[in-house]
Amino acid sequence: MTENPSRTLVLDCDPGHDDALALLLAAGHPGVEIAAITTVGGNQTLDKVTHNARAVATVAGLDGVVLAAGCDRPLVRAKVLTDPRTHGESGLDGPALPEPTVALDPRHGVDVLIEAVMSRPPHTVTLVPTGPLTNIATAVRREPAIADRVAEVVLMGGGFAKGNVTAAAEFNIYTDPEAAHVVFTAPWRVTMVGIDLTHQALATPDVVDRFRALGTTAGRFVVDMLGFFGPAYRAKQGFAAPPVHDVCAVARVLDPAVMTVRPAHVAVELRGKHTTGMTVTDFAGRDGQALDHLVATELDIARFWDLVLDAVGRLA
Ligand code: BDR
Ligand code: CA
Repeated sequence: MTENPSRTLVLDCDPGHDDALALLLAAGHPGVEIAAITTVGGNQTLDKVTHNARAVATVAGLDGVVLAAGCDRPLVRAKVLTDPRTHGESGLDGPALPEPTVALDPRHGVDVLIEAVMSRPPHTVTLVPTGPLTNIATAVRREPAIADRVAEVVLMGGGFAKGNVTAAAEFNIYTDPEAAHVVFTAPWRVTMVGIDLTHQALATPDVVDRFRALGTTAGRFVVDMLGFFGPAYRAKQGFAAPPVHDVCAVARVLDPAVMTVRPAHVAVELRGKHTTGMTVTDFAGRDGQALDHLVATELDIARFWDLVLDAVGRLA
């Protein structure tokens, strides 16, 4: 068993249905310390995703967790894209959201993120970004020492063979390609869990039944989320069952053996006529490019859902 017995995470997110389930996975998995939850404008505006993060943290029983709002727009581009067709006008349509009991930290999310890393021993904190990379890029520019200090960066975004906003680009990278460029060129190793991998993590009807069978508040919350997310994904992208992208990044940290990764060089296209936001992935190290990152390729689907169901099943 290669499951990590204990992990300290910063969850940088834009909930978002799959961000929300990623948060529930981290909250329910034994041995996880959530050092901070930081939010970023992405699937919806910063205000909306921050409210959603607080509501989901409330469902997860994370009262007392440090939760702060970060950047509301990309580094260079004019505004966040938002994606109401996939996530609804609220960013988390479907379930009834509880009135949040988890407080909003008044500090900026980027400051919170830096503090979470720098106040803990070296190489103990893993950054798990599951939205546009604006906060992470800003943090590593503001405090470059975090690059050496983190354990690793495991992000959901990009893809080595395809996109989902355009033929070439995935949503999180396309929203803020300049931030993604900063993150992939900073002196740390990134594990890219892109859509080639996350499209294997489909919440099929049997998976929904397993969440329903938990008979808990958290289990019902997931069923209600998937009740919106599934039809939305079918209508917009023609999927028979929705891919729970962001959950895969957290799963990789908690149980590295849940997926296969390969060393690669990743460059972010900033100015392509048809390819802006593409994560150009080179597994061969052409032109002497360092294979300095890891790119996820194949998911152990049964192991993945067992991990997620076990963790969510531990929540009330
Ligand atoms: C990513 O974009 C968002 O819609 C999801 O939350 C996920 O982070 C998938 O492309
Ligand atoms: Ca997300």
